[in-house]
Amino acid sequence: MRSNMVFFFVLLLFLVELSGGQNKTEVNVGVVTDVGTLYSNISMRCINLSLADFYASRPDFKTRLVVNVRDSRRDVVSAAAATFELIKKKQVKAILGPWSSMQAHFLIEIGQKFRVPVVSYSATSPFLNSLRSPYYFRATYEDASQVNAVRAIIKLFGWREVVPVYMDNNFGEGIMPRLADALQKINVRIPYRSVIDSDATDDEISLELHKMMNMPTRVFIVHMYPSLAARVFIKAKDIGLMTPGYVWILTNGVIDNLRSINETSIEAMEGVLGVKTYIRNSKDLNNFKSRWRKRFPHMELNVYGLWAYDATTALALAIEEVGTNNLTSSYTDPGENLFEFEALGSSQYGLKLLHTLSRVHFEGLAGELLFVNGQLQSSVFEIVNVVNAGARSIGFWTEEKNLVKKLDHKPPNMGALSTWKDHLKNIIWPRDPSYVPKGWEIPLKGKRLHIGVPKRAGFTNLVEVTRDSSTNIIKATGFCIDFFEAVIKEMDYVVSYEFSSFEKLNGEPAGNYDELVQQVYLMNYDAVVGDTTILANRSKYVDFTLPFIKSGVGLIVPIKDQVKRTSMSFLMPLTWNLWITSFFFFFLIGFTVWVIEHRVNPDFRGPANYQASTIFWFAFSTMVFAPKERVFSFGARVLVITWYFIVLVLTQSYTASLASLLTSQQLHPTITNIDSLLQTGEKVGYQRTSFILEKLKEKGFSNSRLVPFDTAEECHELLQNGNAAAFLELPYSRLFLGQYCNKYKMVEEPFKVDGFGFVFPIRSPLVADVSRAILKVAESPKAMELEGAWFKKKDRSCPDPDISPDPNPSFTSRQLGVDSFWLLFLIAFVMCLITLGRFTVCFLWKTNVNDMWQEFQQPDKDSYINKVEKCPCSSSRHMPENNSQAANQMNNY
Ligand SMILES: *[C@@H]1O[C@H](CO)[C@@H](O)[C@H](O)[C@H]1NC(C)=O
Ligand SMILES: *[C@@H]1O[C@H](CO)[C@@H](O)[C@H](O)[C@H]1NC(C)=O
Ligand SMILES: *[C@@H]1O[C@H](CO)[C@@H](O)[C@H](O)[C@H]1NC(C)=O
Ligand SMILES: *[C@@H]1O[C@H](CO)[C@@H](O)[C@H](O)[C@H]1NC(C)=O
Ligand SMILES: *[C@@H]1O[C@H](CO)[C@@H](O)[C@H](O)[C@H]1NC(C)=O
Ligand SMILES: *[C@@H]1O[C@H](CO)[C@@H](O)[C@H](O)[C@H]1NC(C)=O
Ligand SMILES: *[C@@H]1O[C@H](CO)[C@@H](O)[C@H](O)[C@H]1NC(C)=O
Repeated sequence: MRSNMVFFFVLLLFLVELSGGQNKTEVNVGVVTDVGTLYSNISMRCINLSLADFYASRPDFKTRLVVNVRDSRRDVVSAAAATFELIKKKQVKAILGPWSSMQAHFLIEIGQKFRVPVVSYSATSPFLNSLRSPYYFRATYEDASQVNAVRAIIKLFGWREVVPVYMDNNFGEGIMPRLADALQKINVRIPYRSVIDSDATDDEISLELHKMMNMPTRVFIVHMYPSLAARVFIKAKDIGLMTPGYVWILTNGVIDNLRSINETSIEAMEGVLGVKTYIRNSKDLNNFKSRWRKRFPHMELNVYGLWAYDATTALALAIEEVGTNNLTSSYTDPGENLFEFEALGSSQYGLKLLHTLSRVHFEGLAGELLFVNGQLQSSVFEIVNVVNAGARSIGFWTEEKNLVKKLDHKPPNMGALSTWKDHLKNIIWPRDPSYVPKGWEIPLKGKRLHIGVPKRAGFTNLVEVTRDSSTNIIKATGFCIDFFEAVIKEMDYVVSYEFSSFEKLNGEPAGNYDELVQQVYLMNYDAVVGDTTILANRSKYVDFTLPFIKSGVGLIVPIKDQVKRTSMSFLMPLTWNLWITSFFFFFLIGFTVWVIEHRVNPDFRGPANYQASTIFWFAFSTMVFAPKERVFSFGARVLVITWYFIVLVLTQSYTASLASLLTSQQLHPTITNIDSLLQTGEKVGYQRTSFILEKLKEKGFSNSRLVPFDTAEECHELLQNGNAAAFLELPYSRLFLGQYCNKYKMVEEPFKVDGFGFVFPIRSPLVADVSRAILKVAESPKAMELEGAWFKKKDRSCPDPDISPDPNPSFTSRQLGVDSFWLLFLIAFVMCLITLGRFTVCFLWKTNVNDMWQEFQQPDKDSYINKVEKCPCSSSRHMPENNSQAANQMNNY
């Protein structure tokens, strides 16, 4: 019974084996790998696990991959030989591996020749694309796909120069063309490339690092094998390249293999940034990871292992799909001679496998697996910061969102106020965690900027250099120097510099301003600070900062007193409008008073022509406050008093204006523009700068007419000695007029130039930073302060050149007009209206409508004034017959 049972089981097992296992077709594939290395160990395990998982979940598949491993011995020739052997002896249908891009290069060529697809999971060099082999499948991301992520980081921080550091092999160089293109797009310069040999000695590495240190650029992009990077960083830390201000960005070549780097090297990398291949988390991936940890607790899984796993799955799927047709070798026995291969013809199978492989599409451990143009397409990279010997995620880069802190975050607005902190989590920078590097350092160890300063003869308020004869130390002062110092203080980083006077040994200027600027182009100076005008011609050789003071060329001419004291001068203080308005109001007031007083005041009565003359008489006698007529009614009194006040103001203003007109000078320029100057044929002076001379010649002044001068005093002398005019740049003319405002006037600005700027070599990153700092200073009160301090008047009677550049305002502005007095006139007018209105209402109230005119001509019977109108003076003249009565009344008071 028992033996029966055993027999039954054995039979069952035999049947299961027969039905499940035996009918499977074995398909040979080769694996070329550097046996014994860590990478190889990991990926080999992943390949075996992949096959085991694959066939366990798909027992009905007819094909079975059989892996034949060959050692490529870390060199290209062994890899090629191993491949030959696999194809020849084992007749493999596909090849997995190899590790390095250089080995891959050969394998792909061989694969193409024999139509054996090569599936690589770690060869990332973009150069492999250039082979354009359809038999090459890259189950990994091409290195160059990360350059946009690197570019995004550089753009975010606004670094303007970058030095790539890479190893000089296929892998290292592969990224360069795409990186250079990407940086070009955001105008980032690559001033230098640091190439390190893959087996460079420590000394060679040091030498290269020292070179990098002596350059101002502080941003490095490192693309090399982790083993080399480990050595480079240990050296970099020794030398002092891991200090505040330095930026290191590692590509995924290093970051993805950070685990393979030992503790000491990782510590040296503290604070570097990196781009890491991003693998989306999934259930399968987590399962796999936990299985891996259980089975291989001492081996850290990496991203290439996952790709090896996926690549094997893809290959198994494709081989199953191709089926078993044409599987048997199409090669005849190859014999010993390798080259006999060539005659063997091609494998039908390879072509089919090629097509099925390129259609494979599934969700692998490392994400979607689909070969587009023979390689995987990446879309997301993780940005990491090496902190505490590990890579800490600080954000992600995707094509659509650019840099974001979390993948599901919306990208922040790229508004003016967004900073890097809106895009990335906090970054720990090398050594000083909070010091955000500028990417550029100006005082290279001990080296200062060598700044040329012009030697001026006159107008030393702008710039003056003096040499201490005992110490030989150059001292520079003046507005331009002070402004430059204020600008440097505003810069984000320290710039140390020394001034050097552009002069010959005997103290003469060594050349004109063009020659001075040329010195920057010739690399004799690192910069020029002074009153250098920004000119198109000069900007061909150097870069100018933004102007720190406006300029132009002003035409200065002498002025002379031209006042005409004519018989009509007395009319000039007031405008015609004011004259007419005043006369109108005199009449209006006279008339109103007459209307109101007429009925109550005998002074305003009498025959019609007498009354008319009284109106005018009264009106104009108010001008001198001497009307003979007394005014009785209340309304008229208020009106007359108001009018007195207005007249007082008017006459006083007139007097003052007339006095100033007749006594002060009216200074008029002799020449008003450059064209009239051209026609006179007189000599003109010009400030000794090449560009004014150039412009004047262009304008048509002949050489013989032009006299140069250097100082304000020389200019004054020239103009006194019969030169018709002088041309000065605006800042100088401000100084000049502050000294001689009573004699000269700037009448025109015939030539425009931008202003004074500082000079730097072309494409110097300092230009942008200094320009920004200039704007900061120019918008601050400091600029006004500096101008106030240096643009001072020398003649005390002159207005401050800083405040009013033109000390001689024109004549018409002194005339008084209606607009100065309109309020007074308005008040007078309203008063007239009110009094007239009140009078009319009272009059109509009491009067019979029929004989209005009659009534108006009669004295007002009800008026108290008419009853008491007994002044002796007036009654004696008009009513002598009532004399006695008046006297009686007087006595009664
Ligand atoms: C195995 O192959 C034989 C012939 O070679 C066939 O008759 C049989 O059906 C196959 N079995 C399976 C399970 O495919
Ligand atoms: C890889 O595995 C082999 C044997 O399986 C072992 O001898 C070797 O040390 C491993 N290599 C590394 C770098 O761990
Ligand atoms: C993987 O499988 C191949 C063939 O089955 C075997 O030779 C190799 O030793 C295996 N490797 C590991 C790391 O398990
Ligand atoms: C770590 O690696 C570097 C470079 O490969 C090497 O120089 C150093 O000796 C290693 N340190 C340790 C502790 O293994
Ligand atoms: C491949 O198989 C097809 C049929 O499936 C056959 O027609 C063709 O001749 C075979 N080619 C070779 C080279 O064996
Ligand atoms: C610029 O330079 C050219 C020749 O170098 C000269 O002919 C031209 O006049 C200059 N222009 C100015 C505005 O100085
Ligand atoms: C003198 O005054 C009285 C009343 O005051 C008046 O009646 C008389 O007419 C007056 N005489 C003259 C000549 O106007």
